Amino acid sequence: MDSDAAGGGVLADANSAKREEIVAMLTKAYWMEVETVMSYLANSVNPDGVLAQEIVESLEEDVQEELGHATQFAKRIKELYGIVPGSMEFSAEQSYLQPPEQQTDIAHVIRGVIEAESGAIDYYNRIIEATDGVDPVTQDMMIAILRDEEGHRRLFEGFLRDYEADSRA
Ligand SMILES: [Fe+2]
Repeated sequence: MDSDAAGGGVLADANSAKREEIVAMLTKAYWMEVETVMSYLANSVNPDGVLAQEIVESLEEDVQEELGHATQFAKRIKELYGIVPGSMEFSAEQSYLQPPEQQTDIAHVIRGVIEAESGAIDYYNRIIEATDGVDPVTQDMMIAILRDEEGHRRLFEGFLRDYEADSRA
C-alpha cells in the first residue's frame, strides 16, 4: 500500500516531517500569544493618567483577541497531531513589556506593544512561508491572524505619534 492511501496534504504519513516542523512553529506562536496576554493584561491595568486611558481600553480588548489567537493555535496544534504544551515549558521573552518605573510612562507601554506586534508579524510571515503549498488550512489561519496583528501595530503607531506630539506641546 502506498502512502497516498492515507490521504494527501499535511496529514499524510509522507508529510510527517513537515507536519512536525509546522507544529513546532505553532507551539512557539502559541507561547508568544500567551505571553502577550500576560503582558497586555498587566499593561491594561497598571498605567496612570489621562493620556493612558485610550491605551488601557485598547489593551483590555486586545487581551481577549490575543487569547483568541492562542486558542486557535492550540486547536491547530492538536489537529496536526501535536500536543499543546503545559506551563512548565513556558519561558518568557518580552523584556520590553515589563512595567515601567513610572506608571505614567505611556510611551514605554506603546513602544513595547509595537515591538511585540512586530515580533508576531515577522514570525507569522515565516509560518505563512513554511506552510505554503503544503498546509493551506494553517496558512489561511495565519493570514487572518497576521491581519489582526498588522492592524494592531498600525493603531499603536498612531498612538505613539499622538503621544509624542502631546509631549512636545
Ligand atoms: Fe495575536
